[in-house]
Amino acid sequence: MKICCLGAGYVGGPTMAMIAYKCSDITVTVADINEARINAWNSDELPVFEPGLDDVVKAARGRNLFFTTDKVTAIKEADIIFVSVGTPTKTYGAGAGKAADLKYIELCARDIAEHSDRSKIVVEKSTLPVRTAQGLKTVLSANTREGIDFQVLSNPEFLAEGTAIEDLENPDRVLIGGEEETEAGRAAIETLAKVYEYWVPRENIITTNLWSSELSKLVANAFLAQRISSINSISALCERTGANVDQVAYAIGRDSRIGPKFLKASVGFGGSCFQKDILNLVYLCEYFGLPDVAAYWEQVIIMNDWQKSRFSQKIVTTLFNTVNGKRIAMLGFAFKKDTNDTRETAAMYVGRDLLDEQAVLAVHDPKVSREQIFKDLKESETDAEGNPNPLVDICDDPYEAAKGAHGLAVMTEWDSFKDLDYKKIYEGMYKPAFIFDGRNILDHEALREIGFEVFAIGGK
Ligand code: NAI
Repeated sequence: MKICCLGAGYVGGPTMAMIAYKCSDITVTVADINEARINAWNSDELPVFEPGLDDVVKAARGRNLFFTTDKVTAIKEADIIFVSVGTPTKTYGAGAGKAADLKYIELCARDIAEHSDRSKIVVEKSTLPVRTAQGLKTVLSANTREGIDFQVLSNPEFLAEGTAIEDLENPDRVLIGGEEETEAGRAAIETLAKVYEYWVPRENIITTNLWSSELSKLVANAFLAQRISSINSISALCERTGANVDQVAYAIGRDSRIGPKFLKASVGFGGSCFQKDILNLVYLCEYFGLPDVAAYWEQVIIMNDWQKSRFSQKIVTTLFNTVNGKRIAMLGFAFKKDTNDTRETAAMYVGRDLLDEQAVLAVHDPKVSREQIFKDLKESETDAEGNPNPLVDICDDPYEAAKGAHGLAVMTEWDSFKDLDYKKIYEGMYKPAFIFDGRNILDHEALREIGFEVFAIGGK
């Protein structure tokens, strides 16, 4: 069997690497139009940082895992074609700011139709609005030769960045949606299920109709993000009342109906998916004439935006209502630990707010590149004369970032930040030295003993 995947991003790369790793007799080819990305997948510096990913790729690459820009051959040879291209929020026209932009998906469908000379299974791996498979099927069948049939399946990906390999190796469940009502549909579902069965127990492979599968992915992300916004809203109330949000989260999380996960208050959620997928859900509710349902889910995003801006305001007001010319150390820039992904990271929004207030940002992140940080902050590395940007200082070392700073903000929960020598950091900072722990990962009592003024999300 041959599998191909269009899109070698955060999802396509690791997911296909895992399939190839687990199924040594299946040839897996990942094709992307971005040559630099493909070159990186074929090198020792993979374009995605994920714990354990290097080993999985190294074990399978060149054996039965291939990365290529030649999507035509990859499509031609494949029995199953995964589509794992981006589905960003639309920035233009109808639905701008909410609906998913499906142009990359449609282009893939047209390519598949053009280059297929036999029937194939097409799998939606990207997160898509409910009923997209309908459009995909129409484009595929309108552009192909007679006698060729495409079975469209929905197989959304539930991996979380930072734990992608663990999640792929031991998924809570694999979801496959297809045309359950036809024999060909059921056969296609079975073919894909057999691939996962190489390593996932059958009882963890759920099959549904297409629309349930497409919608389940959006709903899963909406529920996860809703928990974060819920606990973040409570963090503000804790700060006013003397309650402690971590204690509240622990107390409610012990209730087995609530459960302990995803109850960590923070500066706000980021990542490429939560916001985009909820906005998409909101758009779908509006489209289907359910404005009250749309408003309910939109509040999750509104709360998250508020949490981010309240954090930057807190920094400004605490530093005596001005950060003009003051160095603020930002520890972490990725949207969460153990990833180099910065899409929608809270650090980017807080950073931009602080730059608007004319602060000097000293940013340190163990995995994010300096180019990415400048890009996200919408700043250039040098001025017209080639002098370094005086407002943004990217530091290889957290101590260097904190040296001469008035405040230090923890933006990402990297484990390494917990064990820094905070005495040394304190000595290098202006006094009073402020710490704003946007992830509540530090030992605040110990910091206060050193002499720091500490602001913790949700009061601690
Ligand atoms: P990404 O932006 O990292 O990767 C998408 C890739 O598709 C890019 O490398 C792009 O060059 C390529 N591409 C675009 N058009 C193409 C074409 N016609 N042929 C071949 N390649 C093409 O995106 P990411 O993060 O991998 O997301 C992909 C999908 O998976 C999205 O729908 C996303 O919502 C979903 N998803 C993402 C998760 C994540 O943690 N990032 C988790 C679960 C789902």
